[in-house]
Amino acid sequence: MNKETAVKMTKMNYDPKRPKAENPVKIEDLSLRDGHQSLFATRGRTEDMLPVAEMMDQVGFWAMEVWGGATFDTMHRFLNEDPWERIRTLKKYIKKTPFSMLLRGQNLVGYRNYADDVAKVFVERAAANGMDIFRTFDALNDYRNFEIVVPAIKAAGKHFQGCICYTLTEPRLGGEVYNIDYYVKKAKDLEAMGADTICIKDMAGLIAPYDAFELVAALKKAVKPPIHLHSHFTSGMSALSMLKAVEAGVDIIDTVMAPYAYRTAHAAIEPLVMALLGTNRDTGFDIKLLAKINDVLEKEVMPKYKHLLDDTKVSIIDINVLLHQTPGGMLSNLVNQLKEMDAVERIDDVFAELPKVRKDLGQIPLVTPTSQIVGVQTVMNVLFDTKEERYKRITDQVKDLCYGLYGKTAVPINSDVQKKALKGYARGEKPITARAASVLDPELEKAKEATKGLAKDIDDVLIYALYPVTGLKFLKWKYGKEAPPVETKARTMEEVRAEDDLVRKAKAGLLAEKPQKKAPAPSDLLRKFNVFVDGEYFEVGVDAIGGAPMVNYARPMAAPVAAPTAAQTPAPAPAPAAAPEAPKAEAPKAAADTKGTPLTAPMPGMIVKYLKNVGDSVKEGETLLVLEAMKMENALPAPATGTVKALGFSSGDSVKKGDVLAVVG
Ligand code: CO
Repeated sequence: MNKETAVKMTKMNYDPKRPKAENPVKIEDLSLRDGHQSLFATRGRTEDMLPVAEMMDQVGFWAMEVWGGATFDTMHRFLNEDPWERIRTLKKYIKKTPFSMLLRGQNLVGYRNYADDVAKVFVERAAANGMDIFRTFDALNDYRNFEIVVPAIKAAGKHFQGCICYTLTEPRLGGEVYNIDYYVKKAKDLEAMGADTICIKDMAGLIAPYDAFELVAALKKAVKPPIHLHSHFTSGMSALSMLKAVEAGVDIIDTVMAPYAYRTAHAAIEPLVMALLGTNRDTGFDIKLLAKINDVLEKEVMPKYKHLLDDTKVSIIDINVLLHQTPGGMLSNLVNQLKEMDAVERIDDVFAELPKVRKDLGQIPLVTPTSQIVGVQTVMNVLFDTKEERYKRITDQVKDLCYGLYGKTAVPINSDVQKKALKGYARGEKPITARAASVLDPELEKAKEATKGLAKDIDDVLIYALYPVTGLKFLKWKYGKEAPPVETKARTMEEVRAEDDLVRKAKAGLLAEKPQKKAPAPSDLLRKFNVFVDGEYFEVGVDAIGGAPMVNYARPMAAPVAAPTAAQTPAPAPAPAAAPEAPKAEAPKAAADTKGTPLTAPMPGMIVKYLKNVGDSVKEGETLLVLEAMKMENALPAPATGTVKALGFSSGDSVKKGDVLAVVG
């Protein structure tokens, strides 16, 4: 252990205008991307970033991470926000501080490798829209997946930050595969590729303080570019590790504003400012300004999101992460997936299976998208495997990984699993060893063709190219071809206050439970009315009994030809009157009533596409449709040989577990 410490106490000086430290540690703030991604499932809205944007610009951050990662997906899919617009809007308020984004190498901001033409144009557009620093990583640390994006970043005159995904073979740094030599070699590879800075990306919060010290010291010695440490709090170690990294001479560290801190997010900035005050690594930040920002966040922003916090646990530290190496986002995903499938009690089985699947798949780091791939496959194994058969249902993404479409794994993939996954695989049964995206056909022209008449510019085309199903849906919302669903609307402070009030009354025992009345079945006399309330539209069924009209169902409907702009502006929505179960759509009912062998949804998800039409003949086991579940595409096989008698849904529809998707007879 290096006995020298890089941190020296100079003099105690608490003045916000204190003289600049000799070698201040630089800070990247993650609140507006990784912070809300980790704590609030990336649901942060642009409008909620604006109240603090200008103040945050004054702090003196080296950079602010505001985009990339899951933001692109979540914004267009759940928030009905144009991801490109966020960069442009924030840029109007944050003028001094450089913007940083998380770029998943050739996966861009998605979950698979995209074709080279899409990757190149995506980087060009991100730069043109205002991105300055491209924090670039590859889930497998296979830097061949940087070969297209890095020259594009450089050509745009932007900052290339190369990442090394931090993962472990043993409980601590060292042992086989993931040891100091591994990381030094990776850092040298990044330096050779022209990295402006090198980031140790500890997405699961695995880095222990003394390992951080050793690693930073080794990298500082081995390479020239400044070293940056990114670490999640999950296991409880990150603030300690940050401090040890500072002692080892780390150049830049990542933190968040206090309300976004800890749990599966990151260390807070405020304690670190205090800890380093008066040393040669003093950040120079004004603690009072930070407090002011926190105050606005606490009062005006956080109340809208606190319902998204996992409040099932008191502890903010997840000690399990040290055992199973699951990054924060993955952990909450796994729990949600199990909940959706009514199997949350199997979480311990999932934890036991996870390391086995990871090992089978080449001991890969767990970071998006590999965390999803390993996580979903683990859930599949736990739910569907039998004593006789392992890997009974293999997701398409695991097949792609086995083929080599994500790149080279740290150690070879289990050959039995690989063989089983590639049996009948469309690209071939023999895995490739070339750069993954080199086998992909160009995708951009096809995307332009598919969005003709809808996309207004290349940024629109890219939304589709990255997310064909949800991207197309979003473009229809954006241009008023379809009304966005009510769930995409923002939560308002009025709603929050009304809820808080209800909770307060409940706690005070002021709420009595009302006996529930069951709605009677509608009679033949049922008449339907359209009712319009504050821009919302309800279909109401009225059934006359003994002269007294009775409402027996009311459900919110998509506004009929409502002006699209009005539908997009978040307006306070009165909660619709409690609606007894909405009538089912016609189509699935028709399929459910058709005679034959049904193909039912094994899990909730969204139909990506049907590969067969009614009347087509299929063989048992042949892929009938693709279902997106848990962000993974699953090819569902025909349950029998015969003719397709009925299709239950269409592309883009959401389905529940057990819904009849198709019938073969
Ligand atoms: Co992170």
